[in-house]
Amino acid sequence: MTHPLTLDQAALLSEYQLWPHGYVAVATLRASRRALEVLAVPHSFDALVAATGANAGHLQVALRTLRVLGWVTVSDAGAYAAPAATVAAASCASLASVCDAVYSDAPGMVARLAGQLRLADEGWVGFAADGAAPAALRTMLTGAVLAPLLMELHMHHMETAPGGGVRLRGLDRAALGPLAASFRRRGMCVAGLSDGGLQLTESGRFVVQRCGAFGVALSYRPMLRELETVLFGDVTEVFTHDSAGHEAHVDRTMNVIGSGFMHGKFFDDMMSVHVHRTFDELPLDQQPSIVADTGCGDGTLLLRLYRYVRERTRRGKQLETRPLLMVGVDFNEESLVATAKTLREAGVPFETMFGDIGDPEPIHEGLCSRFGARGKDDILHVRSFLDHDRPYLEPTDGGISASAIEGESDAAYVRPDGGVLTRALTYRSLVEHVSVGPRTQGMRSPSRARAVIPAAPSPSVRCEAVPLSLPVPLFADAALGVCGGPSRPAASGGALVDGVGHGAVHGRGDVAAL
Ligand SMILES: C[S@@+](CC[C@H](N)C(=O)[O-])C[C@H]1O[C@@H](n2cnc3c(N)ncnc32)[C@H](O)[C@@H]1O
Repeated sequence: MTHPLTLDQAALLSEYQLWPHGYVAVATLRASRRALEVLAVPHSFDALVAATGANAGHLQVALRTLRVLGWVTVSDAGAYAAPAATVAAASCASLASVCDAVYSDAPGMVARLAGQLRLADEGWVGFAADGAAPAALRTMLTGAVLAPLLMELHMHHMETAPGGGVRLRGLDRAALGPLAASFRRRGMCVAGLSDGGLQLTESGRFVVQRCGAFGVALSYRPMLRELETVLFGDVTEVFTHDSAGHEAHVDRTMNVIGSGFMHGKFFDDMMSVHVHRTFDELPLDQQPSIVADTGCGDGTLLLRLYRYVRERTRRGKQLETRPLLMVGVDFNEESLVATAKTLREAGVPFETMFGDIGDPEPIHEGLCSRFGARGKDDILHVRSFLDHDRPYLEPTDGGISASAIEGESDAAYVRPDGGVLTRALTYRSLVEHVSVGPRTQGMRSPSRARAVIPAAPSPSVRCEAVPLSLPVPLFADAALGVCGGPSRPAASGGALVDGVGHGAVHGRGDVAAL
């Protein structure tokens, strides 16, 4: 039975949304200190880059994050400045030690972070006194600690209690005391249990169960730990691959878990509108025999789509005679393995295949030659939250005018070498990417809608009514205030397009005001 929330619980639940922001903001503050010290005196962006030797593109992203938080200001004339409180916080020893604890990948995470929680409960006294500290700094610091701590508890220590409710188990002694004290203070747990576990309250249970959504921010821990190198050093040291070929700057498994957690609502709309139209309303002989999801993650979307077709559409009653093959496409071997596991265990007919969304023709060829697709109209391409992540290719179509975007968006994008990628170029590249053109012929059907991409919230760039065969508006957005570099060596001709933007972009007929 649920009880009405107390005022404190309501405050807790509204604050918890900020915790993953803290995880990114705190690393950004610490890594930016070289630039912040210079900004004790106002500087233009170019002068700041010259004074610090920063990688301009990444610095632009960091400044945007700091500016949104009010930790840096920018004048109408474009001069950046850092208040004394920001400079002091960025350079203080307390911040260095929080960062050491939070972004470390050493074992013993729960005990290490529970120790930091005590500092949070004491009001982060190592930082400037209230009034002098940058706004929301304490909330961000607490979030930087709580976000990874809750995720760790969620993944390894959470269980349903025999008598109902949720409890934490298997906590070591060093962690239990500070954790129980701090969680009790926040109304998240009741007294410790005799077997060393912790029984969560309603709000404790809510935040521990829901923190899966923090996974996207948390997955960038390897990059956040090296953010100073990203800003001022050799970016290729961070945006590289390990010996097994996995991206080194992101924990992709955690990323997929986190994004999967957030996507349910978007997938609902995708099913009830577009998938329904394709498999229930189109004549059977015009329906595709293959569904391909590029950037398939762990196969959740393909599974959901197959179940929807089977249970909710006319095609579902004909699967014996008109089978549907679900194909997971990804450039990451781990994701292909995860997709195969998801679909195999669910009894869904599937195949997996390597493919990079930045190079779509081989995907189309593979679907035809390996899995028997009979051309473009025989394939339904679905993608979720991928196109912002494509390797950047220089636009070639001079007819796409994007000059208005420069003034109207404050999104920040980065070239693979760490330099600035302008908003106009990013926009033009996106329009080419989703337009019918030589690079993407095989992924499109000029005659019928065959690509379905669910809409995401807080779009940075929204393209509508571009000459696409897309049945829905397409959104490009980024999860974090920090940009990536090249996604893998094969993509070294371009950058990972990954910006932040919550402002609307308009000014052209094909871009809608939000
Ligand atoms: C960016 S997300 C896409 C999220 C996923 N479709 C979902 O809805 O959960 C992560 C997945 O996309 C894959 N990916 C990222 N960039 C890609 C690219 N350029 N081409 C193909 N797959 C990519 C990653 O390997 C990972 O499996």
